[in-house]
Amino acid sequence: MIIEPRMRGFICLTAHPDGCAQNVKNQINYVKSKGAIHGPKKVLVIGASTGFGLASRITAAFGSNAATLGVFFEKEPAPGKTATPGWYNSAAFEQEAHKAGLYAKSINGDAFSNEIKQQTIDLIKADLGQVDLVIYSLASPVRMHPVTGVLHRSVLKPIGNTFTNKTVDFHTGNVTQVSIEPANQEDIDNTVVVMGGEDWAMWTDALKSAGVLAEGVTTIAYSYIGPEVTEAVYRKGTIGRAKDHLEATAFEITDSLQSINGKAFVSVNKALVTQASSAIPVIPLYISLLYKIMKAEGVHEGCIEQMQRLFAERLYMNAPIPTDDKGRIRIDDWEMRDDIQDRVKALWATATTENLSEIGDLAGYKQDFLNLFGFGFDGVDYNGEANEMLQIPSIS
Ligand code: NAI
Ligand code: NA
Repeated sequence: MIIEPRMRGFICLTAHPDGCAQNVKNQINYVKSKGAIHGPKKVLVIGASTGFGLASRITAAFGSNAATLGVFFEKEPAPGKTATPGWYNSAAFEQEAHKAGLYAKSINGDAFSNEIKQQTIDLIKADLGQVDLVIYSLASPVRMHPVTGVLHRSVLKPIGNTFTNKTVDFHTGNVTQVSIEPANQEDIDNTVVVMGGEDWAMWTDALKSAGVLAEGVTTIAYSYIGPEVTEAVYRKGTIGRAKDHLEATAFEITDSLQSINGKAFVSVNKALVTQASSAIPVIPLYISLLYKIMKAEGVHEGCIEQMQRLFAERLYMNAPIPTDDKGRIRIDDWEMRDDIQDRVKALWATATTENLSEIGDLAGYKQDFLNLFGFGFDGVDYNGEANEMLQIPSIS
């Protein structure tokens, strides 16, 4: 069928299989253009279908010829109804990996569940034996706790006081004031249960107990810090508490992996347009100002540039992994440069509906948002019939 974008708030109800394939191919070409990385050989990526997880998978496969097993939670297509973008991304990724002679299989289901963990372990045992890198890149608004059966929902709220600041509706470019009421303790606890480190530790425990982690294994999860303007709603808000927990969990996991010399790290990544970040108030305005300045300075990066740099210049340099005073890998270094942040801060103060398309990169934001769903790519025939029923080779 002919597939067009259908926007509803910060989500698009349709996805384009050929556009998603183009997105994956562009990312593969980028990684290849940067040359070989002496990186991981057998990789499990949890949250492998979009955003940083997909870019990590592509970097491992096409930067260092790694076999990859991807876990994600995507909707398959139905007649007349497209799949979610991560489905098509994964179909395209597997096709490209197989063409290159690389092992690539995927598991679609709830990564928080015991069942999906067990399926993953069984598949590693059957096909790979052990993995030497585990990427944990889930972003989810809900988590069904596997022990209690309780469904927890995360919230994006400030803590302590009502937060009032500017925000933008990136579809219309309207800059308005938004006020967000503070979270209560239950909100905070729920957000930590969903986006904190408990599930990462459960995964690592399960994989280690099953003997599928290689000697010297590395596991990485992703975090964010960001500037003062987003602090109340991000780093000092409910999601920030979850990131504090995730970061603390890295040390616990490292302890638990001592007998196999394994290490857990958190990498602090750059703010980028993904399905997860578009839903956070204030962040899209910050991102559109940040993009403008980082592009002007020639230091703008997308998920793939970030992950390629994480592998090539942090994780696999054949040297101790550089970290900050809290043990975190920093790949948000260019975003957080003083000169960049000073300029964003100045622009923030002046941003209005009238000037945003000029002082900010609203067009770039919108383009990236469309791209998430496979729209807006050169070389794709959007007027032609697309095969919305496309299957993922290892799942169908
Ligand atoms: P995303 O929304 O693009 O990717 C989320 C992934 O998790 C997808 O593969 C999805 O299928 C999978 N997933 C969600 N729920 C699942 C479930 N129940 N079971 C299995 N898979 C599930 O998100 P993004 O932005 O790539 O986020 C990944 C990590 O990076 C998160 O920890 C996020 O906080 C972090 N991060 C994001 C930044 C940003 O600006 N987008 C900046 C820095 C860190
Ligand atoms: Na991801």
